[in-house]
Amino acid sequence: MRRPLLVGNWKMNTSYAEARELATEIRRRSAASPVEVVLCPPFVWLDTVRRAVEGTDIRVGAQDVYWEDRGAYTGEVSPRQLKDLCDYVIVGHSERRALFGETDEVVARKAAAALAAGLTPIIAVGEDAAAFEAGRTEEVVRTQLAGSLPPSPRGAVVVAYEPLWAVGTGRPATPENAQAVAQVAREALNAAGVDADATPVLYGGSVTPENFAEFAVQPDLDGALVGGASLNAERFARLVDILAAAAY
Ligand code: PGA
Repeated sequence: MRRPLLVGNWKMNTSYAEARELATEIRRRSAASPVEVVLCPPFVWLDTVRRAVEGTDIRVGAQDVYWEDRGAYTGEVSPRQLKDLCDYVIVGHSERRALFGETDEVVARKAAAALAAGLTPIIAVGEDAAAFEAGRTEEVVRTQLAGSLPPSPRGAVVVAYEPLWAVGTGRPATPENAQAVAQVAREALNAAGVDADATPVLYGGSVTPENFAEFAVQPDLDGALVGGASLNAERFARLVDILAAAAY
C-alpha cells in the first residue's frame, strides 16, 4: 500500500559539477527502480539535479524551506519557489534543530507551508543520546511528532525517525529499535488525525549498504533517509536495490 522510499540528503556537500555527476550517475543506476527515489541537494543545485533526472521517476527534494510565500526574508527560500523545482522538502532535520535552533513549532509551520504549496514534507524527529540512555525515546518522539505536525495536515507527509546519536556517527540504531519507534510514530500520527497506514515512515542515521537489509524488512519502516552513503552513486544505488528486493 505504501511505496518504498529512499531519500538522499546531500547536506552542504557537492560542487556544481559533482552534483550534476552524482545525479546523472544515480539516474543511470536507479531510474528503473520501483522504489521512490528522492535526491535532496543543496538549494543551489536543485535545478541542476532536476534537469539531470528529468523524464524519470526520480524525484527531487529540498533540505529546508521557509514558511512565507514571498517578501523581505533575506536568504530564505519559499515553498512556492521550491514547488517550481521539486516535490519534497525535509523539515526539522536534527542539524536544523541543533545548529539553527529550530523548535517543533517552527518545524510545524514549515511543514504546513510546504503542504499548502503542494510539496510533501519529510518531517524528521529523533531523540538525543541523553534521552536514549534515559529510556525516553518514545516520549521524545511522540512529543516531537505531535508538535511538528501541522495542526490539521491536508495532504501526504513523510516521517523520518533519526536518532541524533546515530546521524553521521557510523553507529546506527538496531533495526528492531527503529521498528519499535516507527510503531510509536504511527500511533502518534493516528492520534494527530493523520492516516498512519498511508504515511511512509523512514529510518535515518548511519544507513549503509552493509547494514540496510535488516532495516528494509521491518514492517513499519518504508525506507530510509540517507546522508553519507547518498554521496556515492554506487552505494546509494545499492540501497535502492536492497529496498526494492525487500519490498517486492
Ligand atoms: P547519515 O545522515 O546517513 O550520514 O548518518 C543521515 C541524515 O542526517 O539524514
